[in-house]
Order: sequence, then C-alpha cells, then structure tokens
Amino acid sequence: MKIFVSRKIPGTALDKLTSSNNEVQISEFDRPLTAEEFLERAKGVDAILSLLTDKIDGEVVDAIGPQLKIVSNYAVGYDNVKVDELTDRGVVVTNTPSDEINEAVAEHTWALILSLARRIVEADEATRRGAYRGWEPSIFLGVSLIGKTLGIVGLGRIGSMVARRSKGYEMRVLYNKRSRDEKVEKELGIEYADLDKLLAESDFVTIHLPLTDQTRQMFSKEALLRMKEGSYLINTARGPIVNEQDLADALRSGHLAGAALDVFENEPNINAELVGMENVVLTPHIASATWEAREKYGQLAVNAILQTLSGEQPPNIVNKEVWPPAWLASG
Ligand code: GLV
Repeated sequence: MKIFVSRKIPGTALDKLTSSNNEVQISEFDRPLTAEEFLERAKGVDAILSLLTDKIDGEVVDAIGPQLKIVSNYAVGYDNVKVDELTDRGVVVTNTPSDEINEAVAEHTWALILSLARRIVEADEATRRGAYRGWEPSIFLGVSLIGKTLGIVGLGRIGSMVARRSKGYEMRVLYNKRSRDEKVEKELGIEYADLDKLLAESDFVTIHLPLTDQTRQMFSKEALLRMKEGSYLINTARGPIVNEQDLADALRSGHLAGAALDVFENEPNINAELVGMENVVLTPHIASATWEAREKYGQLAVNAILQTLSGEQPPNIVNKEVWPPAWLASG
C-alpha cells in the first residue's frame, strides 16, 4: 500500500516503515509543506503520517481519494485535523499520547516555571552581554516557589504529571477540570477550584487543555484580568487558547508579572510586543522535544499505520466510531 510521510522525523521509526512491505514516500523538504505540495504528494495514498503543521479536512481527504484509510497524526493534539469530517468519510485518525511525551511536556512546564521565577533567561542574557560585575545584593531578584500556589487548568495526563512534580517545590496546588476527580486529589494532595478561584488565588497558572471551540481564546482579557495581581502565566498546550495581544496588555500594565509561552496563536509568528518583553520567556513549540518522546511519537505513529493497514485496530484512534472501517468489513 502507499504511505506518505509529510516530513522526515527523528529516531528509528521511519526505518520500520520503509522496511515494511509498502511503498513509502517521505517529503523531500525539511519544512512544513504548503497545502498544494501536501496534496500533490498525498494523492492516491492509503495512509498519511501527518504533523501538527498539516491542515487536514474533508476537502483534502476528498482530493486524496477514497482509498485513504488512516491519518496518523504525529502529535498528542489533533486540532489540525477536522476529525468529524474524516469520520464522515470513514478515515481513521490516530494521535500519539504516551507517558514519555507527557513527561517531556510536564518537565518543560517546570523549566518554564523556574525560568520565570528565577529570571534565568534575562540573567543569562545580561551575563553574556558583559553586565556581570560581581555579586550584587539586588540584581535579578526573583520569587521563591515554596508556599506559593500553582493553578493547573486542565488535569489530564500532562496536567497530573505537572502536579506530581510540584511536590518537591512544596507548593499549594489548585486544579480545574470539567469533572472533579477526588481520587486524583487525594493521591496528589491537590485541591479542586472553580476557574474564578483558581485564577484569583494562583501565583502561577499553567494551561494543559486541548484546543477546542470551548478553549479557544479562553485566556483573553477577561480571564487574564481575573488572575491574581503579580502572577505568571505558562502555556505549553496550544497557542490560540491565549489571546497574545491581551496578554501583552496585561503584562504591560503590570497586572501580570511574567509569562512563558511554548505555543503561539499564529505559529510561527509571535506577537511583536511579547517578543520585546524581558519578563516573557519564549520557546519554539519544543515542550515535547526530547529524544525519548520523539522516538515514542514515531513508533506510535508508524505502528498505527502498519496496524490499520493490516486490519488490526490501533490503540490510539481518536474517532473510534469508524472502526471497523467499511473497506475492512467488505474486504
Ligand atoms: C505537540 O504539541 C503535540 O501535540 O504533540
């Protein structure tokens, strides 16, 4: 069968795919493809290994052809795929959640929290610039984490791992989630709070939600102003959950003390005002960029394709209702 991989990925997973009994085409570009380039290469294939930079909807699938069986998205988030439209066309959609990936994102979240609290990026930049003149009592004063409140918005797999890692820092942890989870509360020693309370009481608010119609722009002016004076915002989830201009306004007015972003509203573009702010830490969507996590991404994405094409149900189907697909039942 024909498989298209929209960009070369690190690790060993692609070897498994290319040594399988399939015709595999890997994009020759080390960059996201334009919609036209993507279609040109994907037309007529049975399976696609897509990245979160590929936009895939019903129209794209119609152009690829009715033989398409699976879109295996090399990402935990799948907001780049119009899942409902693929479901209507009987195409399996899979993603790649795993402990390795969730741990990587949770660790990066902590790296950002610590960078904000201790002004690591600003201090590094000043030191390199030659501004260090020996120990001084009042340069780069930050804030201690001990005794402070961490607010976790979204307590799924990643949010829980962030909570688990707060133990060593002896923080009070509030969380918000659609349905309260008393078992996890007991296990992790954390407290449920409605969003208002969480925003009002947290010194650090970290977002761990998927991007949906409900979460898009959830952190715009209104929510940002409900955050505690002098608090910090961290986003390693999806950029459009936060309104970047409203965030810049809240930082400029001094209402918020700082922000750390790994994801952006219009990637790869970033609000210019945020880029110019010293109390903002920016990383280029790398929260899950560890060798361990990327290897796992690759294995899960490739296995989902090989399993589906051989008629075996892959574990991470996002649209479970399409299984068993019609081509399997009739074949
Ligand atoms: C990365 O952002 C992912 O969704 O895996």
